Amino acid sequence: MRIDVLTLFPDFIDQSASFGVVGRARERGLLQLHGWNPRDYAQGNYRRVDDRPFGGGPGMVMLIEPLRACLAAARAAGAGPAPLVYLTPQGRPLTQAKVRELAALPRLMLLCGRYEGVDERFIQAEVDEEISIGDYVLSGGELGAAVLVDAITRLQDGALGDAESAAQDSFEGEGGLLDCPHYSHPVQHDWGEVPAVLRSGNHAAIARWRRQQSLGRTWLRRPELLDEDALSKADRKLLAAFREDLAAGVGDPLPTPGEDGTT
Ligand code: ADE
Repeated sequence: MRIDVLTLFPDFIDQSASFGVVGRARERGLLQLHGWNPRDYAQGNYRRVDDRPFGGGPGMVMLIEPLRACLAAARAAGAGPAPLVYLTPQGRPLTQAKVRELAALPRLMLLCGRYEGVDERFIQAEVDEEISIGDYVLSGGELGAAVLVDAITRLQDGALGDAESAAQDSFEGEGGLLDCPHYSHPVQHDWGEVPAVLRSGNHAAIARWRRQQSLGRTWLRRPELLDEDALSKADRKLLAAFREDLAAGVGDPLPTPGEDGTT
């Protein structure tokens, strides 16, 4: 897959995608990532990419023309159509379903805003979709672009080894649940013991325990993700047993956020 990123900080995008799974995917040619700086397409001695907003107010607005020329150069550098996604807190919240949709494309373009934003006329004319990575404000779209690049790259065929399989991740299994807890050596530790079922060698029992933990964690931590009516009978039984265990004091090891976000 090819991803072109329009940003005033192409080094940031390049470096953030140089480690681990994403770095290896680039080395192996599974991801071609290209940064494009609108400043390189700006006119005049000062190569201005921003100006004051009409109507007054703080901050600066990114100008249409450097962005337009930059986008044209980026489009011409690769083959085939590619939707342009603008990273902004005003966009639709990013979900794993959206990541899957974008990851299936052969090519994608990302636009990172800085300052107060991008001239609305550029957005209206060129942007296909606006995406936010959460309800908080960052200083620019670069971190959002890095998040998208990472999440998309993990889903490229061959990016993950068997041991890292994306199918096990949170949101990826049946029902879009949170992932279950994981343990490794040592079995006994001052901070607790690895659950016996995981050491039993009973694969069916292990799968059942993991499913139950995923259901329980999702119910506790992200109830809005859990459609209890849509659960199978087996899942409902697992969740009921999880609740009973919890009431009996056997339960989730981490504090669960309250509705107001406190723990
Ligand atoms: N740019 C600034 N804040 C952002 C956010 N929350 N998501 C995506 N891009 C942004």
